[in-house]
This record gives sequence, C-alpha cells and structure tokens, in this order.
Amino acid sequence: MRGDDYDYDWRSGDHLDDALLAECSELFSMHYGVWGASGPRPGKQISLSPSKVREFVPSPGWAVLARRGGELVGYALGIRKTIDGFGTMDWVTQLVVHTEHRNRGVATQLLFTFWGFSDHAAWGLVTTNPYAVRALEHITHRRCDLAVIGERLAEIRAAGEGIPYAKDRPIEVTGARSVIDTAFFISHEKLPDKLRRVKESAPWQLGEIAEGEEWLAFTFRSQRPKAYRPDELKALLDRSDRTARNAYARMAMGERHAWARHAAHEVEVAVDTLALTGGERVLDVGCGRGRHTHLLGQHGCNAVGVDFVEAFVTHARAEASALAIECVNFFVGDARTLDLTDGGYDAALCLYDVIGTFPDQAENQRIVDCLARHLRPGGRLLASVMNLELTSSIASLRLDDVANLPEALQALPPSRTMQQSGNVYDPKYFLLDPEGVVYRKEQFDDDGKPPGEYVVRDRRYTRQQVREMCERAGLRLVWARPVALGRWTEALEGTDPRAKEILFLAERSG
Ligand SMILES: C[S@@+](CC[C@H](N)C(=O)[O-])C[C@H]1O[C@@H](n2cnc3c(N)ncnc32)[C@H](O)[C@@H]1O
Repeated sequence: MRGDDYDYDWRSGDHLDDALLAECSELFSMHYGVWGASGPRPGKQISLSPSKVREFVPSPGWAVLARRGGELVGYALGIRKTIDGFGTMDWVTQLVVHTEHRNRGVATQLLFTFWGFSDHAAWGLVTTNPYAVRALEHITHRRCDLAVIGERLAEIRAAGEGIPYAKDRPIEVTGARSVIDTAFFISHEKLPDKLRRVKESAPWQLGEIAEGEEWLAFTFRSQRPKAYRPDELKALLDRSDRTARNAYARMAMGERHAWARHAAHEVEVAVDTLALTGGERVLDVGCGRGRHTHLLGQHGCNAVGVDFVEAFVTHARAEASALAIECVNFFVGDARTLDLTDGGYDAALCLYDVIGTFPDQAENQRIVDCLARHLRPGGRLLASVMNLELTSSIASLRLDDVANLPEALQALPPSRTMQQSGNVYDPKYFLLDPEGVVYRKEQFDDDGKPPGEYVVRDRRYTRQQVREMCERAGLRLVWARPVALGRWTEALEGTDPRAKEILFLAERSG
C-alpha cells in the first residue's frame, strides 16, 4: 500500500460535526494507547469521548483527516495561531493513527499539513512519543533546542491558552529537560526502548519524562535550519513532483488569473494561424478546463481536449454540455503517453506551459513527440512555453551550481502565486538554475483542501531550444515569437517584460 492510497481532508475546528467527532473518538479509543500504573484504569485502553476530542480543537483550530476506502484511519488536530509581534504558531494538539496504518507515511502527511509552512514562526506539540519529536525536527529541519524553547515560553503559553491540557500546567524548561506536567498517565512501558533508539540517531536535548509528564517540543523559524542531505533533498523534490498534479488541480484556473482572460483572442489567432475553417479535427493537449477547446467547438471544429487532472476534464465536459457544444470531447490522459487511436489530427494546440511542466527535459520532449505523432503529415501545432530569455534577464535569485540547491531552496521565500496572482515571473519568489529550471515554493491554504507547501518546478525555453525540441520530434518550426498576454499577433523582444510566453507554430514534416 502506498502513501497516496489515502484521502486527506481538512476542516476548520468550527465545522466538526457530531458524527465526525464520534469517528475520531472511536479511532482514539481503539488505537491511542493504554493507561499507566497511575492512570484511572491501569493497562486498559485510554478512551476519549467525542466532547473531549472537541476540546483539542480550540478556535482557531483545525483537523486534518486521513481516510482509506472511506474509513477514518488517522487524524491530527491542531491550532494555527498568530501571535502579535511573533508570527504564526502551528501546534499539533493531537495525532492518532490506526495501528494497522502506521509506518505508511500517514502521520508524516498529516503533520506536514500543520508544520510544512516554511514562513511560519514556530511549530510544536506536547507528546510522550519521542518519534513525534523527531518528526517535528525532520519536517521543520530544525532541532528542538532547550535554550530556544526557554526563550519563547511566553509565546508558547499564549498559544496554549485555549488548550485544556496545556493551560496553566506546570512547565519545566531547564538546562536538562523540556517538560510539561499534563497529568496524562499513559503507560510508558515502551518508552525507554523508543527513547534509546531515538537518542542513537541524533542529539536529544529534551531529557526524560516521568508518568504524567509530556515533552514540550518546539522548533522556531529563527533557528538556523539544517541543510538538506542529498537524499532528503531528492525525497523532497520527488514528493513535490508527485504533487505537481495536485498543485495544478489547486490552481485558481478561473477569472482570478489574468492569463485566463484572453481565450477568445487566442482562439482567433489559432483559427487564423492554423487556417481552421470548420470541420477540422483539432487536439488540445493540456486543455485545463477546456476554454480553448470549447471555443474551437463553437467555431465548428471537431475538437478533443486532454488533461491529466480529472477535475478539469469533468469541468470541461459539464461546460460543453451547458453551452450545448456537441462536436467536442474530453479525455483524462497524460500528454507524454497519449495514444488516441483516431490519430491524424489536422491541428493541435498545447497552450500555456504544458510543455515545461517537467523539470526533466526528456519528459517535456515526450509531450512534443506525442503531439507530433498525433498530427497528420502537414498538420500544424500552435503551442506556447514560458520565456527563458525574460526569466533570465529578471532573475534575482540564481543558482550557479546545483550543489548549492539545498541552501538556496531554504532561503527561497514561499508565495501563493498559483492560487492567487498566477504571476510566476515575480523575481522575489523564484530561483533560476543554470539549465533554465525555475523553482518556486507554493503555499495552498484557502481552498478547503489540506494546506501544504510544495516546491514547484517548471522549465522555461529560448527560441533556439524550441526549435531543437521541434526538430527532435520531426516538426519543422515555422516561427517562434515572444508575446504578451492578449496580444499574440505582436512579436516582442525576448527580454521585454511583457513577453512571458514564447508562442510557436510548427508543422509535421511530410
Ligand atoms: C497552465 S495550465 C493551461 C491549461 C490550458 N491549456 C489553458 O490555457 O487554459 C497547464 C495544464 O497542463 C496540464 N498538464 C501538464 N502536464 C500535463 C501532462 N503531462 N498531461 C496532461 N496534462 C498536463 C495541467 O493539468 C494544466 O491543466
């Protein structure tokens, strides 16, 4: 079973209904742990009523839920509180994972939702589980440090005011321990063994706890982050690439994006350039919500839209039926491997950064190869890619040597570009590597899905690279021009700040 077999859902603490609280209560009561010798029922499972679960989500509280086949198999509760003059503190107040679903990345995914925001001020939890402390350190790239926790007790207390187990409880942060007396007498039977293993892996400053006590574990943005090890960096980028599809699905693709407003003009240019008079078979690859495909259909073309985000395809189909456009079809498919048996298309569109989605150029080349395969001899492709000449001329964060990527990425500020402005050319928020790959840290947090921060990469191109890519696919480049949004007929200088896309026309050789 892989981590992505799970569905994750995110709710405001104000929207936890009785049925959900009952599910959480049941999961907790079956899987959390057993009472210790000083607990009310030594050796018996600890249970928690639905109303007690509720207390772990004081406002502004959140819950993130992991389900498998509809069944709740894990959840994390927490608060995300902004403290004046300090910043946002992300405190996980409870984490429960079904015993049969442990070691499958569920806890990590739940915790990333709370702690994965690199511009928040502090991240933490209260726990008797040393592995949870290690997860905190791993996700936030900092070690729990007694001196720093000690300096920030006022903020921790302020954040913990609404949390019943933390409010007014005795805290001890000395030279030897960081502990809070929560009077939670969970059994420590397995603790010595866990602690021994945890101490073997890396320094441990938080000391020991007695029954009834828990560790007070926090890390802070002000601490210098540990550099990613090469394997950690690879894992981060792989994980981010896997979520690239999610990132697309979470883009605001509607009117909020300036680039989404010019479909009519763009289809006019396509009709003109590709000499579409009606009746032609046109493929729109990476069609998104189908804005160009629909207009082509309205122009009388038999248009087929393909995208790998199912939600976009569903939306595109619904829109086609609402607009009563009959000669369009939409499919979910990957542009690299697409194999439509009815090939021989008269024309193809591939607009707005479908080519360039992948940091690895071989994958983008597969998209162009695939487009070429689907065209009839003499068939034409109108496509656009992001402009490397402009990107390079404005980049302020540059990576000259990929060996320095870990530090450069850590220093890169996150943005909400994909959800908000869509301006992926803001030099404050991108890092350009020597190969023309751009890195951004994208945060998502106001769309009802679990919040997250991803490293999103895309590849940008010069006109010469576009030519080479076409030639490799058996396409002849007719022209390539840097263009501005909504002005596709005017060729600009490559470094003109308006020239965000390179539009190109290519023809399949005979
Ligand atoms: C910036 S959007 C542009 C969408 C559309 N062409 C438009 O202009 O409205 C890029 C689209 O490419 C799709 N995409 C990227 N890589 C893809 C792939 N390998 N296969 C299918 N779709 C892909 C994304 O899902 C997204 O819908």
